[in-house]
Amino acid sequence: MMRLAVLVSGGGSNMQSIIDSTKTGILKGLAQVVLVISNNPNAYALKRAKNENIKSVCVERKNFNDEKSFNNVMLEELKNADVGIVCLAGYMRMVGHEIIKTYHGRLLNIHPALLPKFGGKGMYGHRVHEAVVKAKESKSGATVHFVEEEYDTGEVIVQQEVEVLKADTSQDVAKKVLAVEHLVYPKAIKKVIEFPSK
Ligand code: GRF
Repeated sequence: MMRLAVLVSGGGSNMQSIIDSTKTGILKGLAQVVLVISNNPNAYALKRAKNENIKSVCVERKNFNDEKSFNNVMLEELKNADVGIVCLAGYMRMVGHEIIKTYHGRLLNIHPALLPKFGGKGMYGHRVHEAVVKAKESKSGATVHFVEEEYDTGEVIVQQEVEVLKADTSQDVAKKVLAVEHLVYPKAIKKVIEFPSK
């Protein structure tokens, strides 16, 4: 059984889709979410984790003198929970070098666009969907990729497209994309479990 950790900063709907999939979906019998880490004490995702009786910790950057000690505490939590795969799900910070090195090839992120388009530093949340609509794209989608030192540059694991209609607002696109996000994340985790990268 693969032990998963999910790093969150906000609502946690992607985390919930992973948890639900481990209970009744394609990850059932394959994986279990054993730890949730948030950098935001007010993240609704923490309430979801509590409701699911999953251990959750809040590690806030402001409580540390430097980035390294902040990341080392998270790395300790991951190691203590014997985590095999780490999933960033709406985690609004870049994880540190030590975590990327330790979990290389087992550190995943979800991005609400068809990378490599509409990715990179500053391209997150609603800004992505506004840019897609402004560019008059006919399609958008969700991407799960491995995490590297640069934002949104890691190898793509799974992508799924949605159609963007001329009349669609950025809210319409966000809604369509979030729906496929909840499908692609469990698929990507299953793929990484079944075909572990070297
Ligand atoms: C998702 O759209 C995800 O792609 C992006 O942040 C949003 C998080 O949503 N990185 P949630 O917290 O999982 O509901």
